[in-house]
Amino acid sequence: MDDAAADRRLVAEIRDAYEDGAEWWASGPALLYHRLAAALVAAGPSRLAGRRVLDLGAGTGVASDVLSAAGARPVAIDLAHSMLAHRKHDRPPGVVGDAAALPFHDSTFDAVVAAFSLNHAPDPGAVLAQCRRVTRSGGWILASTFPSGADHPAKAVVETTLEQFGYRRPGWYATFKADIADRTGAPGALLEVALAAGLTDACVDRVAVDAGLDDPDVAVAWRLNMPHTIGFVAGLDPDTRAALHTSARAALSDGLPPSVTMLALRARVA
Ligand SMILES: C[S@@+](CC[C@H](N)C(=O)[O-])C[C@H]1O[C@@H](n2cnc3c(N)ncnc32)[C@H](O)[C@@H]1O
Repeated sequence: MDDAAADRRLVAEIRDAYEDGAEWWASGPALLYHRLAAALVAAGPSRLAGRRVLDLGAGTGVASDVLSAAGARPVAIDLAHSMLAHRKHDRPPGVVGDAAALPFHDSTFDAVVAAFSLNHAPDPGAVLAQCRRVTRSGGWILASTFPSGADHPAKAVVETTLEQFGYRRPGWYATFKADIADRTGAPGALLEVALAAGLTDACVDRVAVDAGLDDPDVAVAWRLNMPHTIGFVAGLDPDTRAALHTSARAALSDGLPPSVTMLALRARVA
């Protein structure tokens, strides 16, 4: 398989995993991603009232919620229909589509917010170039990713517990971690991608966000309900699933750090 075909396959596998995991996302990871989205939006322009903002890779809508609360007029886009279908009667309009080929005219938006979606793209530069194209001159692009090698301790602990119950990382997730996430996982690399996409007025900050992870129940719901784990977890019989939950909860020591660190890209469109 050539590189382009491998990239297309990976994007389809990522889409399918989120497609199957929407309600689980909403009752687990979204608890902390909401706080991360709030921190990302806070890094942008202070006046959002009336602004048209694209929520790129919107998922179940945490960034849209933050933007709406600030008076902005978000539009959501996501590859996974079921992520957009979550609370569909109670959120801004959404479109199913690929971040690498945005179905919008040039200069449609005042800003784009990409909360942890850029890091899923095999070609993050192509996604940022699309973000730049659909943003008006003087508008903003905000994007968050996770810094490589700075994982919250709950990740390894819960994954070890999962493995004791027979979990193995799905192939798409192993590829994503090994080949894709690092492309935007260091401040310098993320800034370079932005500059290469023509975003010359850009900066990247490391931001620590209190994500409430000192509550072990939040940490367990986060890790067990991720798209790469929930297929395994949901397939367990109810007793085994309950036992997994109990074991993961017990494996997490008290005193977990509440915060996660993210990289926040801020770019002003020339
Ligand atoms: C980690 S989740 C983040 C969701 C949401 N922004 C949040 O912060 O909760 C990544 C989202 O990006 C979407 N996504 C992944 N690749 C995409 C692509 N190429 N185009 C559009 N959406 C994509 C996924 O379907 C998923 O909803």
